[in-house]
Amino acid sequence: MSSLLKEVGLVGEESSPTRISVKSKHPLPVGTYIYLKYEVRDPVTGGVSEREVVGLVGATQFKSLIQVVSGRPTPVEDYPELLELKRESVMNAILIADVTDRKAPKPPEYPPPPETRVYLALPKHLSIVYSQDPGESIRVGALVGHGEVEVRVNVNSLVKHLLVTGVTGSGKSNFIAILADRVASLGGCVVVFDTHGEYRIESEAPGVVEVLPYEASINLVKTPIGLLSSFIVPEPGATKQRRILRNALRDLNKGIEERAVKKGLPLSEAVIELYRELHKERSSFMSVGETDGLRAYRDLLKERVRGAYKEQEDRASGRALSRAARGRSSRDDKAIESVIDKIDDFFEWHRVSLDMPRVSEYIAPRRIIDVDVSGFTDSEQDWMLKVIAEDILWALKERGGGIVPTLLVIEEAHIFLNEGRSTVSKEAIQRFVREGRKFGAMLAIVSQRPRTLDAAIVSQVQNFAFFKLVQSTDRSKVIEFSDILSEEYADLMPSFPPGHAILVGEWVGRFTVYAHIDKHVGKRLGASPRVIDAWRKALERSVEDARKSFEKSSLIEL
Ligand SMILES: Nc1ncnc2c1ncn2[C@@H]1O[C@H](COP(=O)(O)OP(=O)(O)OP(=O)(O)O)[C@@H](O)[C@H]1O
Ligand SMILES: [Mg+2]
Repeated sequence: MSSLLKEVGLVGEESSPTRISVKSKHPLPVGTYIYLKYEVRDPVTGGVSEREVVGLVGATQFKSLIQVVSGRPTPVEDYPELLELKRESVMNAILIADVTDRKAPKPPEYPPPPETRVYLALPKHLSIVYSQDPGESIRVGALVGHGEVEVRVNVNSLVKHLLVTGVTGSGKSNFIAILADRVASLGGCVVVFDTHGEYRIESEAPGVVEVLPYEASINLVKTPIGLLSSFIVPEPGATKQRRILRNALRDLNKGIEERAVKKGLPLSEAVIELYRELHKERSSFMSVGETDGLRAYRDLLKERVRGAYKEQEDRASGRALSRAARGRSSRDDKAIESVIDKIDDFFEWHRVSLDMPRVSEYIAPRRIIDVDVSGFTDSEQDWMLKVIAEDILWALKERGGGIVPTLLVIEEAHIFLNEGRSTVSKEAIQRFVREGRKFGAMLAIVSQRPRTLDAAIVSQVQNFAFFKLVQSTDRSKVIEFSDILSEEYADLMPSFPPGHAILVGEWVGRFTVYAHIDKHVGKRLGASPRVIDAWRKALERSVEDARKSFEKSSLIEL
């Protein structure tokens, strides 16, 4: 078998159990798996044993052994053997595992002696390191440079949560698509908090896995009044408008909730009943029968905003309005009209609801629930994330074995789980990660900015997928997060192509993996648009239009 081994260099001057320098004529690509075999002498017994280890090439450089000068004192091109002597490649390599015992690979303990031969690793060495129980794991890709060696992750470990990070375009969403689809095909349920609306994917296993779009919406009665009024009137300076709206909302929602509870009605029916009652004498003014709950709510709210103003005015003025109050009232009028406009805008541009079922009601085996929140602002998304995380955790706690363990994926997590900013969802997510593992609530945090993530949340995470990371602050942060990842691995990250990732943590076992993630075939979005094609097409169209209008005008002239 050893005849298949290809020698690629020698161990250089430096060698430790986990790190060596390698010297060779030509540099190897970063991320190449290597294999070494060497003898170790026990200083106590004097006995000699043979060790075999597997490693990964890290930083590489080419170095000239003689001084390089700008002129060419020796025309070495004429002497190829001299050219070979003139330079060498120096590489660092990380030693990953001692595979001497085929059944029980372990972290390397002995440094290979300088001048030990370094070979390219063979699939048979690598599959010792990266074997997983197929009954408990899913495939996510293959080892870089070794398409035949599968990379699998253990799904039971996902209760210890997951962090997926990498710069934009590095392959995070593709990875989530692969993970979600394959977790679902095993019988799991995945809820994706989809900030870019990119997960309405076709499953790799159509007919087995169902991708269910869930239209996220703002519940008009259940959202706290303070938040809802800041969604409708978001401008920080518009405190008066918000106050008017808050009073109207409080009044209206109280009435609706009381009625719904008393009569056991869905909220929308309670709204319609309320509307009908208030408008019975003015039924010709509006066709009440056709009014659905949301239209009724919008009209009632606008009426409350106007009414609230009247009461305020009456109270303020007693019987007659003072001049000062008159001056104030025209400003109030303006504020009220602004609020009315903003209510109309809000209803036009936002998905709102009264009776929308909760996400947890859709949790089922073999299902990906795509919660599309791409149409909402950051603060609205923040609120929705809180609602969804609390709902899923509650459902898993309350209904116990009644629903399947569920993975919640949060895209753009740095917006919601930011170290330096307080958000409404943060506390809910903290509870989700803390209590989740007991009840099968699993979290996957996806972010391109690990340095800004909330440490309290990430410290609970024990599985990691690191894609390309360039900034050194991001790289030192992920070393800190993962505990076991060494600087050598972090140094590889700036050069990863899309889809290459380092996987660490319980889900891959004891040994760090450098993987090429499978490409999801049904993934719809994510590719950068080819701008140049769009420009060319637009240009062609405008030339064509100009030609047509020229022909038309020539005809008219004739
Ligand atoms: N495993 C892969 N194999 C091959 N190509 C890939 C792989 N993963 C991603 N890509 C390519 O990279 C592009 C970007 O991937 P993706 O949308 O997953 O990146 P991202 O990290 O989610 O980016 P963003 O932060 O902007 O959302 C994809 O359209 C695809 O062409
Ligand atoms: Mg993405």
